[in-house]
Amino acid sequence: MTILVVGGAGYIGSHTVRRLQELGEEVAVLDDLSEGHAEAIPGVPLVQVDLKDREACIAAVKDQAPEAVFHFAASCYVGESVTDPSAYYLQNFVATLNLLDGMVAAGCEQFVFSSTCAIYGEPETLPITEDLPKNPINPYGRTKLFCEGLLADYERAYGLRSVSLRYFNAAGAHPSAEIGEDHHPETHLIPLVLEVALGKRENIKIFGTDYPTPDGTCIRDYIHILDLAEAHVLGLRALREGRARVAAYNLGNETGHSVREVIEEARRVTGHPIPAVEEGRRPGDPPKLVGSSALAREELGWKPKFGSLAEILETAWAWHKSHPDGYGS
Ligand code: UFG
Repeated sequence: MTILVVGGAGYIGSHTVRRLQELGEEVAVLDDLSEGHAEAIPGVPLVQVDLKDREACIAAVKDQAPEAVFHFAASCYVGESVTDPSAYYLQNFVATLNLLDGMVAAGCEQFVFSSTCAIYGEPETLPITEDLPKNPINPYGRTKLFCEGLLADYERAYGLRSVSLRYFNAAGAHPSAEIGEDHHPETHLIPLVLEVALGKRENIKIFGTDYPTPDGTCIRDYIHILDLAEAHVLGLRALREGRARVAAYNLGNETGHSVREVIEEARRVTGHPIPAVEEGRRPGDPPKLVGSSALAREELGWKPKFGSLAEILETAWAWHKSHPDGYGS
């Protein structure tokens, strides 16, 4: 039976599709290609549907009659969610509601959901464990938290079982450099730093140098895209084996890197000076996010393989060098 990967033409989705294919799984992708790239999933059946179109979404899921659904299709820019919350509630919450209703109509009961560490807001203790209070400080985080609530309700009412994966900062690319990160517009630190090294930008802006951190810049927990992809496979295994009903796991490396550290490491990896310019804070940025992944390790058997920032940057750099204009679509 098919695993339906919704948003499978996007950054994290396409790396997960690649992993599922390697494992011999039957995969189909549902994507509206608003952010994704058909070139990222060559040879994979692609159904183009806007999840916000409720009737079309439900019909598409019923048509596929999948064994399980992975859901990556979401808007993910914290700043944009502050200025345009309506778009975020529609794209992240309403679309997920439609998708789940499609699953109920299709009798599909296994769901792996892309959640985020943004649901924790500004946690009082670090590293972040799953039981900490969920107080998102931006609409993006709230839309994802609402979806997790939806999943608990759907399990009780319809028996739809789920694994929510709360990502920290996804980065890096497939080691083959055939697929990688290509967002329009790009706002994430690592691809922007590498675009400076490629000569596509003059400098990297450091957003805020007065945070309560050792060097004054924000600290994040960067996690390699293939380690994220593997966690989805393990989440599916837990669902198939009946070990998960409404589970949620943090996915991070348990190590924090400041913005300055990322830039410095990128200078080393690329051999480029990467000029940096200090700017004011970006709204909605928590000073420090580092996750504990102990639960994912224990219950899913997840073992991240690309633990170092250097490996993350090296694979991302190989992708950016070989695809300076991304997929070109
Ligand atoms: N940053 C800069 N300059 C830039 C871009 C980013 O200094 O040009 C800084 C940001 O201010 C932040 C850090 O680099 O302190 C990382 O920023 P990213 O935009 O790369 O990532 P975020 O931490 O903002 O966002 C990520 C995911 C979101 C998720 C969020 C959780 O992309 O989907 O983590 O906080 F919601």
